[in-house]
This record gives sequence, structure tokens and C-alpha cells, in this order.
Amino acid sequence: MKRTDATWWENRRVAPSRRSAAFGYSLPNKVGRVVWGFVYVLFFRFSPRPFHGWRAFLLRRFGARIGPRCRIYSAAKVWAPWNLECQIGATIADGAEIYNPAKVVLCEGAIVSQGAYLCAASHDYEDPDFPVIEATIRIGQRAWVAARSIVLLGVTIGDDCVVGAGSVVTKSMPPNTLCAGNPAKVIKQIRNERTG
Ligand SMILES: CC(C)(COP(=O)(O)OP(=O)(O)OC[C@H]1O[C@@H](n2cnc3c(N)ncnc32)[C@H](O)[C@@H]1OP(=O)(O)O)[C@@H](O)C(=O)NCCC(=O)NCCS
Repeated sequence: MKRTDATWWENRRVAPSRRSAAFGYSLPNKVGRVVWGFVYVLFFRFSPRPFHGWRAFLLRRFGARIGPRCRIYSAAKVWAPWNLECQIGATIADGAEIYNPAKVVLCEGAIVSQGAYLCAASHDYEDPDFPVIEATIRIGQRAWVAARSIVLLGVTIGDDCVVGAGSVVTKSMPPNTLCAGNPAKVIKQIRNERTG
């Protein structure tokens, strides 16, 4: 099934946006990423581990929406801070990478563990122009994306969902489930004592 078909995107519940590979990103986008790269290396990457407020401040200066009590660790990587939203108490662990040409949203209390990769873009390889396609990733409230997992563009991880370590999530996952594997599948329902 083509990535341009509505049903392919139905799973992801978001409309893709397409960007010509030839023209790439706008100048402001490129300049923004270069400046952010310097700021990241100089002020973010080697900041002391407990300085979450400082790192949130830096990300906000570049347009990120970071709620209170978020913990974004110093070895986390964010491609475009202006496309990052972290709601209250969300966590991005060391070594996690947010590749976000489209928006990435971590809802309240969501956790992205070590080495996880949230990948909000791809290419339409069936189109001769090989355009970039982008779609929002949303990690639900209190959902946990465990270590070394990959979450692909357009995926929504439901509230209180757990994505097992090393999973590759290609489709949206329902709330209150343990999902794992490559491709990730629902393994079981979670009886969630945090939410009832
Ligand atoms: C998901 C996890 C929490 C285990 O949850 P659990 O409820 O104890 O699940 P179980 O171990 O009972 O496994 C249930 C089934 O899912 C499978 N499974 C569990 N985790 C899996 C994974 N990551 N990938 C593939 N399958 C997995 C098990 O093999 C088992 O399958 P089976 O029923 O066929 O035997 C754990 O496997 C995991 O991934 N932890 C993340 C660790 C991490 O990221 N740490 C860093 C932050 S501290």
C-alpha cells in the first residue's frame, strides 16, 4: 500500500505533510538548527545532570513548549526544539533522540527512555522526487517508551501504554497496553493501578 493512500495514514490518525527533497528545509529552519547545534554543544550537552530547569530554559528559547517538572537529560538530542512539546513532568532520558521535522508531543508524565529514537519523518520512496514526509508523533499521558525503541512518524502511543525495550513501533498503539517487538504488537492489557 502506498504511503500516499488514506488508509496507510488512517493508522496514524494524522495527515502527512510532504516536502521536496530537492528544496529541503527553509533557510530559517537551517539557520535555527545550526544555532541550536552550537547552543546544544556549549550549554546543554555538558550541563550538570540535575539542571533540568536550565535545559528546559534553553529549549524554550528555541521555541519548545516545556511544562513544569519536565526532566530532559543532558545527553538527550532534539533536532528542532520548536517542534517539541513536553507536558507536565515528561521525561526524555540520556541518549534518547527526538528527530522532529514534524511535531513530537510528550503528554503529561510520558517517559522516553535511554536510547529511544522518535522519528517524525521519512521519504516517499515510490515518488521519483523522493520527497520527505513528516507527521506528528504523540506519546500519551504516563506512557513509557522503553530503552532503544524506535517510534515512527505519525504514531500515537496511547495513554498508560508501555512500549517494551527495543521495539519498533510502526502503527499507533492503544492505551493501557503493553506493546513490544518488531513490528510492535499489543502483548497484553495493563491493569493500571496508577489510573484505576
Ligand atoms: C516490557 C517490560 C517492562 C516487561 O514487562 P512485563 O509485564 O514484565 O512483561 P513480561 O516480561 O511478562 O513479558 C510478557 C511477554 O512480552 C514479551 N516481551 C517483554 N518485553 C519485550 C520486549 N522488549 N520485546 C519483545 N517482547 C517482549 C515477553 O517475551 C513475554 O512474551 P511471552 O508471553 O511470549 O513469553 C520489559 O520487558 C522491558 O522492556 N523493560 C524496559 C527496560 C528499560 O527500558 N529500562 C530502561 C529504563 S529504566
